[in-house]
Amino acid sequence: MREGPATAIRREDYAAPAFWIRSAELVFDLEPAKTIVASRLTIERNADVPEGRPLELHGEGLTLLRVLADGASVSFRHENNLLVIDQPPAAARFVLEIRNTCAPEKNTALSGLYTSGGGFFTQCEAEGFRRITYFLDRPDVMAVFTVTLRADKTRYPVLLSNGNLVETAELDNGRHLAKWHDPFPKPCYLFALVAADLVCREQRIRARSGRDHLLQVYVRRGDLGKTEHAMNSLIASVAWDEARFGLSLDLERFMIVAVSDFNMGAMENKGLNIFNTKYVLASPATATDDDFVGVESVVGHEYFHNWTGNRITCRDWFQLSLKEGLTVYRDQEFSMDMAGSPSARAVKRIGDVRALRAVQFPEDAGPMAHPVRPDSYVEINNFYTATVYEKGAEVVRMMATLVGRDGFRRGMDLYFQRHDGQAVTCDDFAQAIADANPGSALAQHLPVFKRWYAQAGTPTLQARGTHDAAARRYTLTLRQRATPSPGQPDKQPFVMPVAMGLLGADGRGLPLQLEGEAAPAGTERVLVLTQAEQSYVFEGIDAPPVPSLLRGFSAPTRLDDGLDDASLRVLLRHDADPFNRWEAGQRLTLRCMQTALRDGTAPTLTDDHIDALRGLLRHTALDAAFKEQVLSLPTESYVAEHADSVDPQRIHTVREQLRQQLAERFQADWAWAFEAHQVREGFRPEPGQAGARALANLALQMLVLQAVRTGDTVWPGRAYQRCKDAAPMAERYGALQALVDAHADLAEPALAQFRARFADEPLVIDKWFMLQAEAPEPLGSGAGRVFQRVKALMQHPDFSLKNPNRARSLLVSLCMRNPAAFHRADAAGYVFWADRVIELDALNPQLAARLARSMDRWSHLAEPWRSAAREAIARVAAKADLSNDVREIVTKALDA
Ligand code: TRP
Ligand code: ZN
Repeated sequence: MREGPATAIRREDYAAPAFWIRSAELVFDLEPAKTIVASRLTIERNADVPEGRPLELHGEGLTLLRVLADGASVSFRHENNLLVIDQPPAAARFVLEIRNTCAPEKNTALSGLYTSGGGFFTQCEAEGFRRITYFLDRPDVMAVFTVTLRADKTRYPVLLSNGNLVETAELDNGRHLAKWHDPFPKPCYLFALVAADLVCREQRIRARSGRDHLLQVYVRRGDLGKTEHAMNSLIASVAWDEARFGLSLDLERFMIVAVSDFNMGAMENKGLNIFNTKYVLASPATATDDDFVGVESVVGHEYFHNWTGNRITCRDWFQLSLKEGLTVYRDQEFSMDMAGSPSARAVKRIGDVRALRAVQFPEDAGPMAHPVRPDSYVEINNFYTATVYEKGAEVVRMMATLVGRDGFRRGMDLYFQRHDGQAVTCDDFAQAIADANPGSALAQHLPVFKRWYAQAGTPTLQARGTHDAAARRYTLTLRQRATPSPGQPDKQPFVMPVAMGLLGADGRGLPLQLEGEAAPAGTERVLVLTQAEQSYVFEGIDAPPVPSLLRGFSAPTRLDDGLDDASLRVLLRHDADPFNRWEAGQRLTLRCMQTALRDGTAPTLTDDHIDALRGLLRHTALDAAFKEQVLSLPTESYVAEHADSVDPQRIHTVREQLRQQLAERFQADWAWAFEAHQVREGFRPEPGQAGARALANLALQMLVLQAVRTGDTVWPGRAYQRCKDAAPMAERYGALQALVDAHADLAEPALAQFRARFADEPLVIDKWFMLQAEAPEPLGSGAGRVFQRVKALMQHPDFSLKNPNRARSLLVSLCMRNPAAFHRADAAGYVFWADRVIELDALNPQLAARLARSMDRWSHLAEPWRSAAREAIARVAAKADLSNDVREIVTKALDA
């Protein structure tokens, strides 16, 4: 099953295909053990490519039954997962007929055609179609698909593929048939089929354009009651894309299908999105507020791909961010618009930046660092990364900042005018946005701006201000410095939009007048840094101001503004920009931890810091959701990213000590916060309620933590009661987490009851595993409690490595989200990691490769972790028959 030699594919080697496939007629006879695929391809020579080239079709793990060219037999050979026809018919256009089989039930990699829960599902991105039949499996080859499905009617009553249903029929032997036609030419990575016993929620809508559409959400029997939110999210997505970008649904029918075995979040197959159940199913009884938010954003994301990804697709996989960065930007904007109030929008932005820093910044600083548009890859599945997705979205966001909201809309309009129906590059996108906005900072600096696509690594933005009292002037100097990354030792400056304001001593925003301007205008500006160093002179500034820079995180950089604690407290108390207000609080807390780490002491919150935090918690005008963000500590990984030599145990100790102090010093405030944020109305997944629940949950965590330390039983008792009685999962889960994280005695009975109650809800059982794997190791009481528990849970009857959600719920949770439990001084965590990577690789290389990335940052660890980690990686790398997926990750890790 292994793919053969791992050779790197390089972006600069791109060549147009020698042949196009204009249409594909596929007939599937679906059986789990052996499915027969009959394919009829209309093939056309690419007139731009010199003649004489062989026709090379991709195919992996297939059994070929026959090949005919224009109805006659043709000679062919197999070569490294290619079917090579050296002498195809000389005509400009010919028909190739292929019959082959594949084995869906043996497909544990979940790429291509596979079975799950007794049904058939496909996943073709990036290169899964070649595991179904022979094809030119590359995104610049776009065909019109007609697909016939034949299968047993009782076992597979629902037969779906892309586009429109054109025929159904009954067949002999209890089988039936459905024929689908998709009028839009598409690359084969957007092909999908489903054959299963499913039910659906339907909704007819009339779009703004006046066109009628049928929306359907397909799930297993019994899950229909959990589809309302997905349907509402889909309806909202359709409306949003019309209103914000003038893009309407181009299909009569739009289907979403949920499947419980799925490697990623969801897939945007044309008209037939296939989703991980995690991003479809949600009911108040089974899903938390974060789950509801996740459904909305992923439904939006996949729907928005219909234009950004499907109508205009990628020329090659190096351009992946063309569709992913842009579509993440769109789903982020969608979620913000859905959230409504400026404060709820800011909370969404804070969450997105937290995620970027938690995953993308470390990626950019580690062995897998790559540009938003990578230059080479061994296995493309390894490049569905935070850099391509989340940093890619930041690059699009910067463009939008540079051309303004209306300018960005004009740019998008031009992009579709120029490229609808084509497979294009990131250059084409940037060019369209710039060309629609002549005279904008983007158009002026386009080649420099595009370095964001080409240079890896997170640059640093340094800012220093000087005040000249006599001249009433404030000079702000910005300097940028790019960091070297693998294969890119030297870098050039980026274009950075720096949104900023200046605060006076009273915290008010000062009117801004740059040198050369006639009068002050507004209190916020976007400075556009295009060189290594630039200075900006503000006039009419009486006293040294506090600069508030990079508002809303206007560029993906690390900011070094040199502000002291007192200035940060001014920003925390007064900044008009909620993002920077939150950021100031995080920085104060991070500093407090860093001081403790440096001095080998326990962290201490100063009275000033406590007053500032209490002022925020008790503030009457701020939203609960925002307060919860401000009072949540930076994660251990985030702290680790700010250290040179990482001692994961020490970071854990310091953070836990700080958590205990927060619990102790704010005890009365937490009790108040808990009581004051009880939601009395029925559960609704909206920001107001969600914020109140989030703050109440944080308060309960703190109260239980403090109670466990002092031996008090009241709050653990209340949490336990809430676990039993609380109707919404959002509250029940919060209470369970409070008990588990504090290692309260009542955690055990609460966990047992929780499992029993939700035994038939796989997504809730995933949470049950995750909660235990992510619990903080208790301080000083024989380390390793959580780690031992994870090992024991691997043997639990509900655990399985074959289901990605379940595997992630234990393994990714332990290895990537619980540093102190994972990075053990005795290296047992690393031994466990290596064993699981190897074990998983035999089943599902994509998933194994994701888990393999837990070790990306090994070279930043202190001893003894560093050597032990290296040894574990080397052990994996030494395995003979690794997948290309895992091999690429461990090889790059060892090079670090
Ligand atoms: N294109 C999908 C998205 O919306 C990503 C995806 C889904 C994927 N399944 C996959 C990528 C399997 C690689 C392999 O982001
Ligand atoms: Zn996507």
